[in-house]
Amino acid sequence: MKAIVLAGGTGSRLFPSTKGVSKQLLPVYDKPMIYYPLAVVMQAQIQEILIITTAEDQQAFQRLLQDGNPWGINIIYAVQKEPKGIAEALILGADFIGNDDIMLILGDNIFYGAGLSNQIQQAQNELRNNQASIFAYYVDQPQRYGVVTFDSQAKALAIEEKPKNPTSNYAVTGVYFYPNDALILTQKLTPSNRGELEITDLNQIYLNQNRLQVKILPEGFAWLDTGTHESLIEAGQFVYTLEKRQGLKLGCLEEIAFKNGWITQKQLLSWAATFSSSSYGSYLIQKYSTKQ
Ligand code: DAU
Repeated sequence: MKAIVLAGGTGSRLFPSTKGVSKQLLPVYDKPMIYYPLAVVMQAQIQEILIITTAEDQQAFQRLLQDGNPWGINIIYAVQKEPKGIAEALILGADFIGNDDIMLILGDNIFYGAGLSNQIQQAQNELRNNQASIFAYYVDQPQRYGVVTFDSQAKALAIEEKPKNPTSNYAVTGVYFYPNDALILTQKLTPSNRGELEITDLNQIYLNQNRLQVKILPEGFAWLDTGTHESLIEAGQFVYTLEKRQGLKLGCLEEIAFKNGWITQKQLLSWAATFSSSSYGSYLIQKYSTKQ
């Protein structure tokens, strides 16, 4: 199984902050935004990762994440020339994916909560039955997202992109699991009224084929928005509050890599020594210097 992290787009809703830097490289408290979705990919035990960026931002992502070696993963990069839709990631990434199943995640999505690994595991199991999986989350303003219509048995009936009159409060989050034939099905999509290849259209195809699992993320789970200046600072405050209270780090790639057995304690420490003057680096050094 391979993963695609989509981190292009113009970030226009965050101008002027994103005029000089990609949205997904902006800090969410103590680390760049893309660390959080990357952490989810690594929690899914996936080591082969494609990061799609704009042409002008690619170098900055490469400077930050290199080839993934510090975290025991393999990262390669591709460019999306224009933001022609989330589903275009599956066209741009087709050669990289080859014959594998696919995890697609948006580079600005932040997830936090108990049971995430379990949900991911279930989605991966469903792939063996040739089923795609998406995750729905109860939100206050569903009209900003893809929205799921459910029947009285909580079975998904339809998904609509940014409906004016949403039929439910359940938004589709930005993490998707697809069997390999998503690469073929995506080729059949045509651009929407807003000129994008919509991921919602692909999800609707799987739904029509009875091959879409819509998993509802539990109450108390956090799926954080980073789309506006306000929500970005709230996301940062959320991370700050949890990290301070618990003395733990969210989205800590080194920690996940170590737990997954992809890097040794020695590798973690020598990497952390390169940024020991930051609180992030000293956290790693303190925590792992004593670990057996
Ligand atoms: O966040 C979840 C929502 O993401 C879903 O509920 C919607 O169904 C889905 O369409 C999408 O909503 P938006 O259209 O509002 O997403 P946005 O345009 O903000 O793009 C999401 C991220 O993907 C953002 O970081 C930029 C990146 N992106 C987006 C497009 C359209 C790209 O890299 N390339 C693109 O072509």
